[in-house]
Amino acid sequence: MSSTVPAAPESVFTYGAPQLKFGDGASDEIGFDLSRFGVRRVLVVTDPGVAATGLPQRVAEQMQRFGIEARVFDGVHVEPTDQSMIAAIEEARSTGPWDAFVAVGGGSSIDTAKAINLLCTNPGELIDYVNVPVGRGQDPTEPLKPLVAVPTTTGTGSESTTICVMDVLAQRVKTGISSARLRPTLAVIDPLLTRTQPPGVTAASGMDILCHALESYTARWYTSYDHKTPEQRVPYCGANPISDMWSEKALSLLAGSFRTAVRDGDDAQARSDMAMAATFAGMGFGNAGVHIPHANAYPIAGQVKDFHPKDYPAAEPMVPHGMSVALTAPEAFRFTFAAAPERHLRAARLLAPGADTPTDAAELLPTVLTELMRDIDIPNGVAAVGFDEGDVPDLVAGAMKQQRLLATCPLPVTEEDLAGVFTRSMSLW
Ligand SMILES: NC(=O)c1ccc[n+]([C@@H]2O[C@H](COP(=O)([O-])OP(=O)(O)OC[C@H]3O[C@@H](n4cnc5c(N)ncnc54)[C@H](O)[C@@H]3O)[C@@H](O)[C@H]2O)c1
Ligand SMILES: [Zn+2]
Repeated sequence: MSSTVPAAPESVFTYGAPQLKFGDGASDEIGFDLSRFGVRRVLVVTDPGVAATGLPQRVAEQMQRFGIEARVFDGVHVEPTDQSMIAAIEEARSTGPWDAFVAVGGGSSIDTAKAINLLCTNPGELIDYVNVPVGRGQDPTEPLKPLVAVPTTTGTGSESTTICVMDVLAQRVKTGISSARLRPTLAVIDPLLTRTQPPGVTAASGMDILCHALESYTARWYTSYDHKTPEQRVPYCGANPISDMWSEKALSLLAGSFRTAVRDGDDAQARSDMAMAATFAGMGFGNAGVHIPHANAYPIAGQVKDFHPKDYPAAEPMVPHGMSVALTAPEAFRFTFAAAPERHLRAARLLAPGADTPTDAAELLPTVLTELMRDIDIPNGVAAVGFDEGDVPDLVAGAMKQQRLLATCPLPVTEEDLAGVFTRSMSLW
């Protein structure tokens, strides 16, 4: 599956996951669950949009029934920046100490809670822990407090991953912190909390699920890497038999629920299947890794000009994470097809079981993807969110900075390859 064959191939893969509670009503048990950790003061972390649904307040109130003092911080920035995370950390440090954190929201709230937890338990400042070359890439030295992650979107899988993502404003680049210690202690996935997601959020965050599943399924196979020593092991170890299982199942769940969930947000079965798909894809990509569409998404989001997506906060221009990932995905999978044709075909058939195979088999997955994107109202390509061909060099430079992700691609990726992918992704249909 990979074009490189190392002299000493890897023979080991790893798998990590948080404790998990899934199902309608699961979030009603958080007070009890936290009481078992013996905690007294808990900070609930959310954003203003989710706070307006009343869900975080409801979670805080049940903790009070167990004698736990809970305070809601609703200052999370949708698609967090280093500045917004620093402000949240300062607030949490000044009102602490906290015994535990509960994130109620999408990836933005969960990632901000991860950063708060890290910096309330470890010395230094945010940039010390941000991935190199943007930050100093330090590992946390102290154990973190319990973090309960309660997703209200069906997308990121952040409730089970070891990363937190942010825009570093001064460098105009999206990057993150990656450490096994960031993984939440408990993920509580309650599909009832996801019902109020507006269609635009369901569509964009659902494309994030889909790309997590597709990218981890087509990632470099773990044995194609050089053999690591135990201290060199990283959470992302390449596609492997366990991550494959999660990714395949996530694709089948999406096949039956994605269009329905966007069209009818009150469809209980579709919401539940989407929540399960998000969790499953998170378990897959959180161990295998993602590649070109995610690497390209970072500059698309970080260099946004004047795009204001429907159903997201209107104050600032933004390309939501799932949308930015989706826009170059069809072209990226045309590019990676040759590395593992069978995997691309199988993924396409799981996603669209009835689809006819075109004469050129490489077209099946891109076709299935673009048809779905049209149906759920994702913009038609990179140009539709405000870029033109003159922007390609800057977009390529931004994507090339994501070497950690590009190393997971099943083929070597050059600047020319990425320039081709961006250029052909200006318009998708
Ligand atoms: N850590 C990871 O593993 C990981 C993986 C992928 C993406 N991310 C990051 O996650 C962020 C995106 O997260 P997201 O897509 O989950 O969305 P989000 O947290 O950014 O929320 C999107 C919008 O939906 C609203 N919203 C969320 N849930 C709602 C609900 N139930 N009812 C009504 N409104 C609701 C929010 O208020 C917000 O306006 C990005 O910053 C991305 O980079 C992290
Ligand atoms: Zn993602």
